[in-house]
Amino acid sequence: MSKIATKPGCLVTGVAGFVGSHLVERLLSLGFEVVGVDNFFSGRWENMAAFIDHPHFHFYEYSVNRSQLLATLRRLHPTLTRCFHLAAIVSVPYSMEHPEETMEVNYRATADLAQEAAQLAFESFVFAGSAAEYGNDQRLPLAEEYASAETVHVSPYGRAKYFASQCVAEKPFGAALRFFNIYGPRQDPASPYSGVISRFIDMSLAGRPLTVFGDGLQTRDFIYVSDVVEAYLHAAGLQGTSLLPFSGIYNIGTGTAATILDLARTILRLTGDTGSLTFMDERAGDIRHSLAAVECFKTKCRWTPRISLYEGLQSTLRWARRPVR
Ligand code: UD1
Repeated sequence: MSKIATKPGCLVTGVAGFVGSHLVERLLSLGFEVVGVDNFFSGRWENMAAFIDHPHFHFYEYSVNRSQLLATLRRLHPTLTRCFHLAAIVSVPYSMEHPEETMEVNYRATADLAQEAAQLAFESFVFAGSAAEYGNDQRLPLAEEYASAETVHVSPYGRAKYFASQCVAEKPFGAALRFFNIYGPRQDPASPYSGVISRFIDMSLAGRPLTVFGDGLQTRDFIYVSDVVEAYLHAAGLQGTSLLPFSGIYNIGTGTAATILDLARTILRLTGDTGSLTFMDERAGDIRHSLAAVECFKTKCRWTPRISLYEGLQSTLRWARRPVR
C-alpha cells in the first residue's frame, strides 16, 4: 500500500510582522499548512490581509511565552513539525528600557520553545537571530564565530538574541539565522525601530528632506526580504538540493556594503524627487560599519541572495506608492 505523502505543517511565530507575513505567503504558495501566532505587540493585522482567509492558514492570538504553546498547537494541527520562530521584542530602544522583559521574551521564551520542539520531535526549528549579536565588533566582514559571551552587546536586545541563538543551535534540528539589515514592502516607516530604507522612502515620497545621521559614510549590508524568506526555507529543509533541515548559526546578508549617503541619493533618483538631504548629528550608539561574512550559509545550502539593492529599492518603492485603501 503506498503511503500518501503529507506536507509538513509549519508554525510561524510573529506572523503579523513584516518578515513573518512574507514567509507565510511563500509557505502557502508552496502548499504548506501554516499555523501563525502573534500577540500584536508590534505586529499588524494589515500585514496578514493577503492570507488571513486562506484555507491552509490558521491564526492564534497567542504570546510566545504561553506555557505549552507547541503542544497546544500540535493537538489542534497534528502535521506541525516545523517551527519558524520570529516573534520578539524588536525595538532596541524598548529593550534598553525593559531589559528583563526583553530577556524573558527574546531569550527565555525561545529556549522554552526549542526545548518543547525537541520533546515533540519537531524536524526543524529556525530562529531569527540578529547582527546585533556582534555588538560593535569592527572586524569586517563579521564571521559567525566573532560573537561570543565576551562580546560587549550594545543593547539587551543584542544580548538576548545572542543567548537565544546559542541555545537553538545546540539542538540538532535548530538553526539560528543572523539577519543583517532587512528591508522591503510592509516595513513600517513610522515605528521607532524602522529601518533607514523605509524611512528614506517615506520622507522622499512626502517631499521632505532625507535626514542623514552623521556624515553618511557609515555602511550597512542590506538584504531584501524575499532573499530572507528563501534563507528560512533552506534552513528548514523545505528548499534547495538536500531538503534536509540543518543546525548551526549562520549570517544572512549579501556580503556587500552600501553607504547611507549612496542609499539616500539612489532613493532620491528613483523617486524622481529633486529633494535634498539634511545632515544631522550622528545617532547615539550607532555602529560605523556592518558587513556579513556569508560563505558559511552559502556553502551549507547553496542559498544566494538574488535581489540587488537597486532592484529591491524599486520593489519597495512600488509598494510604498500603492493606492491607500
Ligand atoms: C540595525 C537594527 C537594530 C540593531 C542593529 C544591529 C533596524 C531598523 N535596526 O540598526 O535594531 O541593533 O542593526 O546591528 O533594523 N540613518 C540615517 N537616517 C535615518 C535613519 C537611519 O542616516 O533617518 C542611519 C543610521 O544612523 C544608521 C543607518 O542609517 O547609521 C542604518 O540605520 P538603521 O536602519 O536604523 O539600522 P542599524 O543602525 O543598522
